[in-house]
Amino acid sequence: MSSKGKKKDLGFSTRAVHVGNESDALTGSISPPIHLTSTYEQDAVGETRGFDYSRVDNPTRQRLEENLSSLEGGKFGITFATGMAATTALFQLFDQGDHILISRNTYGGTYRMSMEVMRRQGIEFDWVDTRDIDSVASAIKKNTKLIHVETPTNPLLELCDLKAMASLCKKHKILFSVDNTFMSSYGQRPLELGADIVMHSTTKSLAGHSDILGGVLITNDELLAEKLHFMQKATGAVPSPFDCWIVLRSTKTLALRYQKASDTANELAWWLAKQKKLKHVVYPGLKNHPQYDLAVRQQMTPDGTPIFGNMISFDIGSESARDRFIAKLELFKLAESLGGVESLICSPFSMTHAALPEKDKLAMGITPSLIRLSIGIEDTEDLKKDLQKALQQ
Ligand SMILES: Cc1ncc(COP(=O)(O)O)c(C=O)c1O
Repeated sequence: MSSKGKKKDLGFSTRAVHVGNESDALTGSISPPIHLTSTYEQDAVGETRGFDYSRVDNPTRQRLEENLSSLEGGKFGITFATGMAATTALFQLFDQGDHILISRNTYGGTYRMSMEVMRRQGIEFDWVDTRDIDSVASAIKKNTKLIHVETPTNPLLELCDLKAMASLCKKHKILFSVDNTFMSSYGQRPLELGADIVMHSTTKSLAGHSDILGGVLITNDELLAEKLHFMQKATGAVPSPFDCWIVLRSTKTLALRYQKASDTANELAWWLAKQKKLKHVVYPGLKNHPQYDLAVRQQMTPDGTPIFGNMISFDIGSESARDRFIAKLELFKLAESLGGVESLICSPFSMTHAALPEKDKLAMGITPSLIRLSIGIEDTEDLKKDLQKALQQ
């Protein structure tokens, strides 16, 4: 079954379809089997056929880990039950007294886990503006062990220059991890730019149909992979074989889905930017985005074409305008999450970022009237009409 070392030279979508998806050795089934088993018969004490217990490893999970690491350009993939379980396992590599620096407007759940769980266990955190490498450099302390970056950030779509951050981390011998959930492996590959570890909530664009939860950590470093596999086994937040299969099936269409959603988002962002009722439209593909040039340089499809992602944020001016707008939409559904085939709308202030202190949110620009759109793969014109109708109210 193993495809390690093979298929490296194939294109992104060919790997998406074939790596980890080899036909079943026993029956030839083209679609890989789902190994729904908790345990495995051993031939004698200590003699297994490669698997002994599904928390430790499972053939369907192994296929998914091969698939996801290949798409990200990494050697090792370690999957988890959710994105939060993946980030938690990553932070659990560190000890009491260690210090972690994180992008200031990351997903609110990362903030909650850091401040309300890991901090109680003695790990220190600081939240920094990772657009500004110099200010990150000045926040580094003697005990800083990890810089964890989201780019673009959630929901303000602030970018971090990954190459520059990687060289800062190398200089200070600090590990560098990137939450690549927003861009997906199709739109950005931080390992190629010097990151040590990439994290995804596979719940989002990788699974892409709003039907499962999952997470993954990917690295090229064998020692790190060993430690993360140990964490996966020791703490046990592993994905079910069924959920692994769903993600494995879904990444086959990742390039098609992500490209379509991103093309539509680009068109809608330009259109939204012309609407007088909206105060501030944020999208990395808009020329007035302060980091447009970095987006062009850093966010690219596997063939090197710039891509700006499926997320748009804008300020609609007031809470009452927000509520009227959301109530009038028919296709955009009000829901947490992102990256699915269906378009979603949310109010980050009270939904995805509810865990952040109010004054921090307001200082960053996460106001009650800020709206975040996740663009799906519906017809662009239908989505535009839906937004237009709601805006006219
Ligand atoms: C950027 C980002 N990272 C991590 C997570 C956490 O992932 P999960 O919900 O799969 O635990 C989310 C969830 O919304 C997210 O948006």
